[in-house]
Amino acid sequence: MDSWHDLCAVNDLPPGNRMVIPVGNISLLLINVNGEIFAVENVCPHDGGELNEGSVEGTDVICPRHGARFCLRTGEVLAPPATEDIDSFPTRVNASRLEVFIPG
Ligand code: FES
Repeated sequence: MDSWHDLCAVNDLPPGNRMVIPVGNISLLLINVNGEIFAVENVCPHDGGELNEGSVEGTDVICPRHGARFCLRTGEVLAPPATEDIDSFPTRVNASRLEVFIPG
């Protein structure tokens, strides 16, 4: 069932920081880019690279294994060798808590 999930206090993820939180069977990567918080799946579809170890350029994350690039806002793959998008999830702040929406 679709629902918002409580993740952490929003102050736990200041600008420039990232964290990985499991939500159900999803490994969720949270990144705060200049106060905007993005949530994407942490696994690169090319060969399982962990995106939390990659660099962030603007609102793109780059896989540390072979350099595929993904848009944090949409999950769209922007550069090979990956050919599939990653899932991205809406976030919100509710009473100083960070929440993510996971579709059912
Ligand atoms: S595992 Fe991410 S680009 Fe290969």
